[in-house]
This record gives sequence, C-alpha cells and structure tokens, in this order.
Amino acid sequence: MSTVTISIITVFDELYDSFLKTSLIGRAQADGHVSFNVLKLSDFCAPKERIDEPTCGPGAGMVLKPEVMQRAIEAAAQQYGPGYTIFFTPQGTPLTQNILRHTAKHVVRASSKQDASKPGMHIILVAGRYEGFDERTLAAYADAQISIGDYVLLGGDLPTQVFLEGLLRLLPGVVGSAESIEHESFEGPWLDYPVYGLPTSWEGREVPEVLLSGNHKAIEQWRDEQAAKNTLLKRFDHFSKVVRDSRDKELAHKLIPAHYVALMHSDVCTHPGREGNTSITSIDLHDIARSCATFGVKNFFAVTPLEDQQSIMASFLEYWHSKEGAQYNKSRYDAILRLVASRSFDEVVQAIEQKEGKKPIVVATSAQSTNHPGAIDFTSQGKVWAHNRPVLLLLGTGHGLTEGRLAASDYLLDPINGLVDYNHLSVRAAAGIILDRWLGLHGKKLLV
Ligand SMILES: C[S@@+](CC[C@H](N)C(=O)[O-])C[C@H]1O[C@@H](n2cnc3c(N)ncnc32)[C@H](O)[C@@H]1O
Repeated sequence: MSTVTISIITVFDELYDSFLKTSLIGRAQADGHVSFNVLKLSDFCAPKERIDEPTCGPGAGMVLKPEVMQRAIEAAAQQYGPGYTIFFTPQGTPLTQNILRHTAKHVVRASSKQDASKPGMHIILVAGRYEGFDERTLAAYADAQISIGDYVLLGGDLPTQVFLEGLLRLLPGVVGSAESIEHESFEGPWLDYPVYGLPTSWEGREVPEVLLSGNHKAIEQWRDEQAAKNTLLKRFDHFSKVVRDSRDKELAHKLIPAHYVALMHSDVCTHPGREGNTSITSIDLHDIARSCATFGVKNFFAVTPLEDQQSIMASFLEYWHSKEGAQYNKSRYDAILRLVASRSFDEVVQAIEQKEGKKPIVVATSAQSTNHPGAIDFTSQGKVWAHNRPVLLLLGTGHGLTEGRLAASDYLLDPINGLVDYNHLSVRAAAGIILDRWLGLHGKKLLV
C-alpha cells in the first residue's frame, strides 16, 4: 500500500509545526501511513502581490484571491497528482463520523490499488481566513465543502486539524488497537459507555462494582445498557437517525420511560379565555389511538367529566372491545385497546401511578408560546426522561388547555409552527406531529 499524501493550503503554515509532529500524527508519518505537504499561500504570490482582495461591493472584509489559490492547488497537484480537494467553510456540510469513515474507506481503497512505485492517494485540504474564499475558487476546485459546526472561527486551520484528527485515527495502523476505534461514540446508534480508571474510590465517588467483578459477561451487559441509557438521555436525536434494527428499537423502547397521552376535554378553553368542556369526536379517538400505537404510547386517556360524553365513549369502546370490533379491523382494534375513558386529570394521574408505581411527569402542549418555566423544545427528551418517571403528554381541545392546567404541568412543549401565521392544527394532526418529533425514528429505512 502506498502512502496517502495530504496537502494543506493555509495562510499560517506555522500553525501545523507542532500539530503534525505530536503524538500519533507524528508517528503515523514516521511509520509511513501518511505524509504531509504544507503550502503557505503567500509563497504563491508574485512579488508585491497580496493573497487577498477587498470583497466586491459595499461592506468590509477581504477574500482570498482565486489566482493565488489556483497556483497553490495546482502546485500541490503537480507534485502529488490531482487531489480530492476539501475546503473548510462554515457553510459546508457538517462534519460527521460518517463522512470521516467514508473518506477513510476511500483512502484505504485507493491506496491499496496504487502501485507502490507511483504516487499514492492525494487529498488537498484548504483552510480559509478573513471573509473566506472567492465563490469562483469553490466552483472551480471544491470536491467537498466541510463545516465543523454552526459557528464561525477566525480561520480554517482548526477545522483542518479537526478533520485530520478524525480521519487519521481511522486509517489502519495509526491507532494501536482497531477495537478502540470500533467501540467509540458515533460508530453506531449508541454513544460509548462510561469509563473509569483507578483508584477505585476518589473523593467519595466509586468505580461501579461490576467493573471490578472480573465477570466479563456482566461487564459487557452493564456497558451495553449504560451506553444505551447514556445515548437516550444525551442524544436521542442521534439514535433516532441511525437506529439499525429491531434489537436497537426494542432496547430503546425498554429503557425510555413509559409514555401516556391524555386528550383533555375538560380543563380547556371553549373560547379564548373562557373555560369549559368540549365534546368527544370519534375521529380523534380513532386517529390519536393509532398515533399512540405507532409511537409505543402505553395508554391514551380521553378525559371528560360529562355523563353524556362518557356514555358516547362507552358505546364506542363497547363496539371495539366486542368480537365484531376485533374482527372488523384488527390493527384499529389493537390501537383502540389502549384507549381509556377518564373523568378527570387526577383520575389519569392515579391510573398511571397505579400502573407504574410513580407519578408521571406532565408535559403539556399548546399552540401558543407562553412564559412557562418548564418550556422545552423537541430535543429535550433527555431532560424529561432523566426524571425516571412515566411521561404524560397532555393534549388540549377547543381553544387549548386552561392557564391553570398549563401552569400545573412540569413542562410545556414548544408549539408547532409553519412559515405563516395560521396556527390551528386539529388535535389529531398535532398529536401525530408531536409524537413523531418526540418519540419518532427519523433515519434511513431499518435494515431489517
Ligand atoms: C471568518 S471565516 C469566514 C466566514 C464566512 N464569511 C461566512 O460567514 O460563511 C474565515 C474562514 O474560517 C474557516 N471557518 C470558520 N468557521 C468554520 C467552521 N465552522 N467550519 C469550517 N471552517 C470554518 C473557513 O475556512 C473560512 O473561510
């Protein structure tokens, strides 16, 4: 296998002096896994020429000149062959482990095909400064544009170094043990498990006993469970995008606290500012039950204190609990099995407490933003799940939950909004969207 050459084009070449010599990166070069070619942009200027020009049009800032960039890129290509050219820009594709893995695989494949007597694979990394690159440079030379996050740095040298740290550790032989790469965070749906070293006791904090037990199977099990719990609390968004198979799904479902939904026909406003009760609609019962079933919600409570409404629900449930209902539509029957007719919010809380042994954390929903102290968004699952209590999602009807019911809730989820001011989703549509954002999987198709 021939070596991969990485050219780095920068304004400040001195930033790479110690970086490229230190630790595993220094060793990777000594061992012949990689070689670097650092090009300083000013070396490609004619006498008295600048590397930058003021941006055209009004406004401050200097852009890196396309001709200087061209000379640097072409010099690198002349020496090591045409290179896959990556520009670092905050407007680029956000860097992920997937991109690094992909690039590393490409490097390995390309290098193994090369004849050792010929130049190996060549990657050109371009770090910007000032206002960044002239758009025409990007159009002419960028094979990829990469950002290391949604913030703006002074220059592209740290992004270049971040990319190198991520890429080099994936090249065979750079990091001692392949195992330590495979088990890291972002190599699959689960983040890494928590790690501990000696001493076993420090400042009153102990290493978990199981890790000192010598029981490898128990340790592996503990680590798997900790990794999964850790991920669900810290990065459900990550899990939801890269979940692989039904085993991952089942484990997550087991570890996430039980969820319940209550559709409130009491504790609601019938008109803006007027509190009262609303009527049951069978289409809401059907559709919200189906959404609850889809997202693994244990029970769906429909809450009304009104006797006539209770009797409508009783006959609805009677049909679906009958043999005829079960045979009419099995999947609808399965969904409606989780529907419970309730008379009050307190009755719902009691029913959940009886089932789970703990009172639920109450997460209210509203079409309006209010100044609730527990206002949360759709990335706050970990915050709610960390209570380790069942979760009750409250849906309002009519003109929404009363101020009192909202204030008595532990959390209030952000409203769902579109690009325009109209904001009157049906509760069943809102329920589907809320459950999808809160508990849904958003990745590619599952592999099984
Ligand atoms: C001050 S920034 C230019 C920002 C640019 N005008 C913009 O707003 O998109 C100068 C250089 O720093 C680098 N840079 C800054 N933030 C970055 C980020 N988050 N990811 C990758 N590169 C970044 C790029 O190379 C960029 O050309």
